[in-house]
Amino acid sequence: MDLIQVLDNRSSVRSYEKRKIDPLLLNKIITGAKSTKPLYEDIDLNFLLIENGHEASKKMAGYAGYFGKTIEGPHYIAAITENKEGCLENLGYRMEQLMVLAYQEGLGTCWIEVLHQQHKAKEVLNIFDENKLLLALTPIGYSRIGISEKLVKNIIDGKSARNNLQEIVHWGEWNNKEQTVDNHPLACILERVRYAPSWANQQPWQFIIDDNTLILSVTKEKRDGLNRSRIDGGIIMFYVEAMAHQKEMDGKWSASVKGLEKKYRIPESYEVLSIFSMNGAFK
Ligand SMILES: Cc1cc2nc3c(=O)[nH]c(=O)nc-3n(C[C@H](O)[C@H](O)[C@H](O)COP(=O)(O)O)c2cc1C
Repeated sequence: MDLIQVLDNRSSVRSYEKRKIDPLLLNKIITGAKSTKPLYEDIDLNFLLIENGHEASKKMAGYAGYFGKTIEGPHYIAAITENKEGCLENLGYRMEQLMVLAYQEGLGTCWIEVLHQQHKAKEVLNIFDENKLLLALTPIGYSRIGISEKLVKNIIDGKSARNNLQEIVHWGEWNNKEQTVDNHPLACILERVRYAPSWANQQPWQFIIDDNTLILSVTKEKRDGLNRSRIDGGIIMFYVEAMAHQKEMDGKWSASVKGLEKKYRIPESYEVLSIFSMNGAFK
């Protein structure tokens, strides 16, 4: 399935049918998740399938989800990552691939945060390794919302609630809003990927387009000691890269961002997460 279609139609699913997923399909999803492309090869991340989603959502109540509110789903998948520099964006990047895989199989998912009670949530899943982080899970199953309800939902609270391109793109340096190139390929990509999901729909990302390079910054605010905007950053990094490749553009993300905040006059409240270089030319 075309990625544009995914971005146009996907949304978080918070209401599920009770029916279980066929074990073969579930196995296909979890196997696919485990082989999702990492952003950083050296960060260990595991996807844990929780067969009994009903029980998991009950046990996790108070420890996961906005205000400790979990969502009932037939199954759950938890992402457990090694605690290492870059692990937040790597988590966003890989877990969103799982979400897309599930969507392509007709299944719904919803990012569920683990915020203030991480040690309790880890206990529920028998994770006792201090160096492992459990920051997100997702229910997985068949959406209870029909196509027509979904259309209405999208119109009311979904697609219109995203920042427009003007609000997220700067040209050459921060705050330069004067577009220098009409229909720049990177701007065309951003026009699509701005529909990516983010925590509380905050869309903490800002982009500078400098010739064939895209500089991604995210807000710096810490929640529970971690800058979780980096997870959202990783999500949009996945979409930018996948969309570029789909358009047969050759490009990749790099974490060599030293000195870029100063160079591009990025304000204190943001940090540069990564830069996407198009290797000089568009194919
Ligand atoms: C890192 C992250 C954590 C999230 N945590 C929750 C959550 O705990 N509960 C919830 O209902 N939705 C959660 N969401 C879903 C967002 O609220 C949702 O993606 C956003 O509002 C945009 O809506 P959409 O996904 O339907 O396009 C989370 C999303 C992300 C990316």
